[in-house]
Amino acid sequence: MTEKVRVAIVGGSGYTGGELLRILAVHDKVEITMVTSREYTGKPITLVHPHLRGFLSMNFTNFELNKVGDKADVIFLALPHGVSLHYVPKLLEMGLKVVDLSADYRLKDPNLYKEWYGYEHPYPDLLKKAVYGLPELHREELKNTSLIASPGCNATATILALSPIVKHGITRELRFVSDVKVGSSEGGAKPHEGSHHPERENAIRPYEADGHRHSAEAEQELSILAGKPVKVSIVPHAVSNIRGALASSHAWIDDENIDELKIWKLIASFYTGNKFIRIIRGGIHPYPDPKYVIGSNFADIGFALEKRVGRLTVFAAIDNLMKGASGQAVQAFNIMMGFPEDSGLRIPPLRPA
Ligand SMILES: NC(=O)c1ccc[n+]([C@@H]2O[C@H](COP(=O)([O-])OP(=O)(O)OC[C@H]3O[C@@H](n4cnc5c(N)ncnc54)[C@H](OP(=O)(O)O)[C@@H]3O)[C@@H](O)[C@H]2O)c1
Repeated sequence: MTEKVRVAIVGGSGYTGGELLRILAVHDKVEITMVTSREYTGKPITLVHPHLRGFLSMNFTNFELNKVGDKADVIFLALPHGVSLHYVPKLLEMGLKVVDLSADYRLKDPNLYKEWYGYEHPYPDLLKKAVYGLPELHREELKNTSLIASPGCNATATILALSPIVKHGITRELRFVSDVKVGSSEGGAKPHEGSHHPERENAIRPYEADGHRHSAEAEQELSILAGKPVKVSIVPHAVSNIRGALASSHAWIDDENIDELKIWKLIASFYTGNKFIRIIRGGIHPYPDPKYVIGSNFADIGFALEKRVGRLTVFAAIDNLMKGASGQAVQAFNIMMGFPEDSGLRIPPLRPA
């Protein structure tokens, strides 16, 4: 039996941290050696994550940067953006491999950090080294990196929806609107005024509709694919589901000869060989619905062509905590480590959910 990789999770009391634990606790190539929380140091992990009773008997510890090198080979940072920022260079210097779930290393252009996140990026060289952790676009680069910048959930859904049509250049212009409905777990485990249950339940509430941060990473990735600048306006809507994100990404098409079969073929061929992409067509529910991916790392992709007006909408449904966060982070980690891409992720979705 090969030796297991020692993994530390920083920010283990949060939602993405909990989801990493759910996956990695049964990953046959991983030993979880450290899980940190400031608030719950010394307390059992199952106090915060009772669903993991019987799977993990460890306690949370405090995060001591200098000691983590003795305890782990790979570290997952499930921290708010701006917090991972200064840990990453030190962890890399110590020889660890890093998977950062925050936005701190996702953007290649340092100037975009000032524009979208309000701070000057202090490590622009590391931005060049980081690989954007979307395996469907960066599988080869992930094999040779020590720093994975795991994508945002609304960006993941938008990029997966638009990549095939951007790559094939079938739209009138490279300017898109992506309407994303997303569940409350996107906001993390700490309650605040807007996420308090009576305020959130039954809501269908647009937010950051004049410029959502994930637009920057979606534009970056889609521009690379197109080989020229792509503009994307992501308009997120908070809905009362706990999990799930659905991107409805709209484009205009002039080509009279395009039909549904051609679009289906180009989407299917773009994603050939990608285990976590399912193309949805027909059936009782002919379009993707996050309801049918909950708990899994799948992204369901489908589309609607309204020829009358020349509108093409591509839909992508994901579980924001899985393909939109921790599932995708483990998928990218598997590639980086040379493990089968679906190790720990062979989990069918829940139904009913
Ligand atoms: N939720 C999603 O759907 C989603 C999807 C994709 C990416 N992400 C990204 O993933 C990261 C984690 O998100 P989340 O939803 O898991 O958030 P969360 O539930 O709020 O968890 C954040 C964790 O970080 C710790 N923490 C908070 N502030 C800290 C600080 N200043 N120093 C050290 N630790 C701190 C907290 O633990 P203690 O207070 O116990 O220390 C908590 O465990 C974020 O960057 C988020 O943008 C989230």
